[in-house]
Amino acid sequence: MITSKLGDAIGLEINDLDVTKISDKETINKISDLLSEFSVVVIRNQNITDDEHIKFSENFGTLELTKVGTDGSGSKLIILRNFDENGNIVSPTDRQRLNNLANQEWHSDSSFKKIPSKMSILSAKMIPSLGGNTEFLSMRASYNALPQELKLKIDDKICWHDYSHGRSKIDPNLVTPEEKQALPPVKQKLVLSDNKHGKSLYLGAHCRNVDGMSENDSNALLAEINSYIDTEKFIYSHVWEPFDLIMWDNRAVLHRATPIKGKIEKRLMVRTTVAGQTSTTNEC
Ligand code: OGA
Ligand code: MN
Repeated sequence: MITSKLGDAIGLEINDLDVTKISDKETINKISDLLSEFSVVVIRNQNITDDEHIKFSENFGTLELTKVGTDGSGSKLIILRNFDENGNIVSPTDRQRLNNLANQEWHSDSSFKKIPSKMSILSAKMIPSLGGNTEFLSMRASYNALPQELKLKIDDKICWHDYSHGRSKIDPNLVTPEEKQALPPVKQKLVLSDNKHGKSLYLGAHCRNVDGMSENDSNALLAEINSYIDTEKFIYSHVWEPFDLIMWDNRAVLHRATPIKGKIEKRLMVRTTVAGQTSTTNEC
């Protein structure tokens, strides 16, 4: 496999792979190992159909079904786009556009689920000429940057993750009663330790508070942790090229969309989400 490193802390690209032609377990294991080590793997030049996307993704585990209230609901695909069925760019107040805005907050896909996702696999279909990068933040480098006393203090902490929490900050009406009911808050470990390459922080927009602490203490602790996260050094910002396919480890990085620059052009992305096998805590 021809590979090269992308960011300082995370990111690797593979240049000589056709994901529709993988038939051996060895290649899949190799990709899994690379993802476990580099957290973000970019596979170039994958002009794939939705079925090929799903088939490739299923090599890594069971796929999540898209939740209510999201484009692609009930299927194995999530559709991210900034235009409607007629091809018109959606207006600034449109729900779809607000959801896209929410995507610009650092997050980990499905951290609001009891068993959060293992990895996401995103395929670029239409990309704007300028901006619309996707950024990834290493939560392993972030954990490693914490002072020892803070690491000890947080190692066993549990946080509540709540889908409504992050979304409500964008617009109080963005989460429908239906979504609220389908997605009650869940507990997640603050520090994940099952990757052999090191521990990582598990935070992001859905993380509401630290369990068992007052609101003030919880906010202060989360702010203290955030103060050590170097958003320059620990980030890999991906400038999309046509037919890039990106896989990321949701338990090792946070990610976010960034705004399109200049004239708003169409952007269309399709994602699969590989379900995790275990909850981060067995207490909930
Ligand atoms: C996602 C996501 C960001 C982007 O697919 O989960 O957050 O840049 N995408 O589209
Ligand atoms: Mn996402």
